[in-house]
Amino acid sequence: MSAVPEMSRTVPLPHHCTYSEAEWRALARHWYPIAYSDEVVSKPLARTLLDQPLIVYRTTGRQVVVARDLCIHRGVPLRLGWQEGDELVCAYHGFRYGADGQCTRVPAQPDLPVPKKLCLETYAVIERGGLIWTCLAPDPSNSSTVPDWPELEDPTFRMLHDPPPEWDVTAGRQLENFIDVGHFSWIHTGTFGNRDLPEVAPYDVVRTATGFHVDYPYLAANPRVVVARLRPDDPTLDGL
Ligand code: FES
Repeated sequence: MSAVPEMSRTVPLPHHCTYSEAEWRALARHWYPIAYSDEVVSKPLARTLLDQPLIVYRTTGRQVVVARDLCIHRGVPLRLGWQEGDELVCAYHGFRYGADGQCTRVPAQPDLPVPKKLCLETYAVIERGGLIWTCLAPDPSNSSTVPDWPELEDPTFRMLHDPPPEWDVTAGRQLENFIDVGHFSWIHTGTFGNRDLPEVAPYDVVRTATGFHVDYPYLAANPRVVVARLRPDDPTLDGL
């Protein structure tokens, strides 16, 4: 892992963090997709990124807000509360928080000014290509940003909205699975896996400004299943 940047030292680690501090700080300065855009519609979503519980919601003006899932009053998760207009309401004592994280109302003391320190920790958000991205600890000295992913802007490209997998393994093991094309022909025979194509053909790995790029064409064994998932209204489905 690279050296911990000075700026990100000020961001507290999540409670119950399972990463070493150096690992967490190195990872937390990068951007990660945490939701599909069309999931963030009318009610808050609970997500966890690098052991940090988050709450994600969309205001009436379509702004997406990502905040630490922790009411600043007594520490209750905001995922237990609800959204009213552009505000989050905590389930425990009804504190309300605006899109900038600032508490706007303390129902038990409605006539007193709300202290400025009653403010949620919010995070930077980028919505691009149908995904909501956030960064827990941006490092101004490192220009990490959302990677270029032109396919996401391409109307002929179809992204499958599978639910995020929850596996009891390290992030490295998950990543390894997604770049391991050799298991397609063995594990995924119920959908696209082709048992007749167990060989992995050579392919190029290209380094980019933000990571690596690989194209790997694969001849699906069950085109009907694949097309049904990609284009459920496709009129040619019956002929497959
Ligand atoms: S813990 Fe949220 S309002 Fe009291």
